[in-house]
Amino acid sequence: MVAVGMRILGIESSCDETGVAVIDADAHGTPRLLGASLHSQIAMHQAYGGVVPELASRDHIRRVLPLTEAALAEAQCSLESIDLIAYTRGPGLAGALLVGAGVAVSMAAGLGRPTMGVHHLEGHLLSPFLSVDPPEFPFVALLVSGGHTQLMQVDAVGSYTLLGETIDDAAGEAFDKSAKVLGLGYPGGPALAALAERGDPKAFKLPRPLLHSGNLDFSFAGLKTAVMVQFNKLGPSPTEQSRADLAASTQAAIVDVLVKKSLTALESRGANRLVVAGGVGANRALRMALDTACQARAIRVHYPELHLCTDNGAMIAMAAALRWQAGLFDTERPPQYGFQVRPRWPLDAIDDGA
Ligand code: KG4
Ligand code: ZN
Repeated sequence: MVAVGMRILGIESSCDETGVAVIDADAHGTPRLLGASLHSQIAMHQAYGGVVPELASRDHIRRVLPLTEAALAEAQCSLESIDLIAYTRGPGLAGALLVGAGVAVSMAAGLGRPTMGVHHLEGHLLSPFLSVDPPEFPFVALLVSGGHTQLMQVDAVGSYTLLGETIDDAAGEAFDKSAKVLGLGYPGGPALAALAERGDPKAFKLPRPLLHSGNLDFSFAGLKTAVMVQFNKLGPSPTEQSRADLAASTQAAIVDVLVKKSLTALESRGANRLVVAGGVGANRALRMALDTACQARAIRVHYPELHLCTDNGAMIAMAAALRWQAGLFDTERPPQYGFQVRPRWPLDAIDDGA
């Protein structure tokens, strides 16, 4: 018998955020978010200037059950009413992934319910479906997170073709590493963006790597070196204005490349819809530049809501709901309670790990 409705609990624990959410889905129509809870480990990792994997895993263990209770309480439903438990299978930190996966599978075994291991990037990619004006397929997606920078052709749920990606650092990494050079804390993206608000984006000439390469690949490793060279030229005590100018110039270099490559991808696919997802998708300068460029070309741009750009449980529950609706989840198969996480898992190899 085909299930007519599905209540899904989603657990995200791939890096430095523990997120849990409850979503209700019918066979058709956009699934509804009933409740969500989130804990960010940023404050804990700040002292180390980056994510410490062992600390991340331990903190996920501490947080995941109280967060599950909080999400269920907000959704006003019991654990017993959950039909399916979804968790992030990968990519991400192995130990951190194991916490979410272990808890999800244990709870599911206790309840006698099935589980679904979700691809973290598919979660990001489908997160705009949690906004009031969800996109329609097909679209080109710009995935910009701390670990990934990719352009994808998305024809349907589960149908992802890689068009181009970074050959070295991700866009989020470029933000984070440049922020470190500028003496800003972790995570550097939001801090650099805030400092850039007061700076002149044309003050420093910085490279736009692979801007005219003719393909859809990115390279950001050279940018942080260029930022370091410029920063060292400012001497031992740079003024606040010169730091802001360098931050603004760095942001402009990253944004220019992301916008140009996105437009090239849209053009090459004859597409008129762009979906932006991942932590860097929260960047205001990127949003403004993409909006302006796309408006001029009659291209619709969709973003996740700001608080859903970075990691969260809702996007994992949503990806599970959309996969179920698309018939990509076999509800007839008896639940399996063994599990494996996939710390490295390319999105276009998503079917290898399901
Ligand atoms: O998607 P995400 O939460 O985690 C990964 O899956 O990697 O993305 C985190 C990344 C970090 O590099 C962070 O600095 C960046 O997104 N980020 C931003 C902004 N907010 C988060 N970068 C630029 N501007 C922002 N406002
Ligand atoms: Zn992420």
